[in-house]
Amino acid sequence: MPMSIETGRMLLRRMTGADLDWLARLHGDRRVMRYIGEPIPGAEIAARTLPAMLRDYEELPTGLGYFAAVELITGRPLGWVALRPPDSVGLCPPASTELCPPAGVAELGYRLLPEAWGLGYATEGARALVRHAFTDLDLASVVATTMTLNLASRRVLDKAGLSLVRTFLAVWPSYIEGAEHGDVEYAIARSAWLTSRAHVAGDRRCRSGGRLRG
Ligand SMILES: CC(C)(COP(=O)(O)OP(=O)(O)OC[C@H]1O[C@@H](n2cnc3c(N)ncnc32)[C@H](O)[C@@H]1OP(=O)(O)O)[C@@H](O)C(=O)NCCC(=O)NCCS
Repeated sequence: MPMSIETGRMLLRRMTGADLDWLARLHGDRRVMRYIGEPIPGAEIAARTLPAMLRDYEELPTGLGYFAAVELITGRPLGWVALRPPDSVGLCPPASTELCPPAGVAELGYRLLPEAWGLGYATEGARALVRHAFTDLDLASVVATTMTLNLASRRVLDKAGLSLVRTFLAVWPSYIEGAEHGDVEYAIARSAWLTSRAHVAGDRRCRSGGRLRG
């Protein structure tokens, strides 16, 4: 079961303790956190966030967790992409009586350093994890949520083959500007992914895409 995936331009690999500096820069950047919450201090990333990411490798089924996304040729960090058991706010209705989320479902997520935005990396990583979910992990579906106003994130989900399921209003611990527009849930089922094969055409485009500048 791979926990290391090569895409056209990236290596998606396990996080290590050596990833702390760029991870703190990522989660501490106001632009990155615009649709997520307040920037997180580096001390908290060191004490809680990174240890929790590393613990996932012990506690989750193999092949799930956070993947550091680094440039394939240089190893330069770009950010992370993740495939984990769904736990985002709103994915299960309150007081749901059914098993929620159902078994065989994983949640897709991603967060990139601003210097890597706009080069197709998030799309490339998302497509790779959707493929990983349905081929290596044999999952039934992949879900994701984002703020309604997070158009870049929604576009990544579209391009990775996920479809809009619903818009919903969730209660968040703190107000984020634009929260009144709600959040959106996206999903793709394995059967739809196998049928569409949209990922095949997408891979070719990604391989000819740009590289990180500077
Ligand atoms: C969301 C994010 C991962 C996108 O990364 P990215 O590498 O720039 O995405 P891609 O280059 O693969 O392109 C995504 C698509 O969104 C489009 N896009 C980018 N910014 C946009 C914006 N502000 N409005 C509308 N579309 C936008 C791009 O043009 C591209 O579509 P196209 O290929 O049809 O032109 C990145 O902006 C990010 O890390 N944001 C902060 C963290 C975050 O919000 N994560 C999601 C939380 S749910």
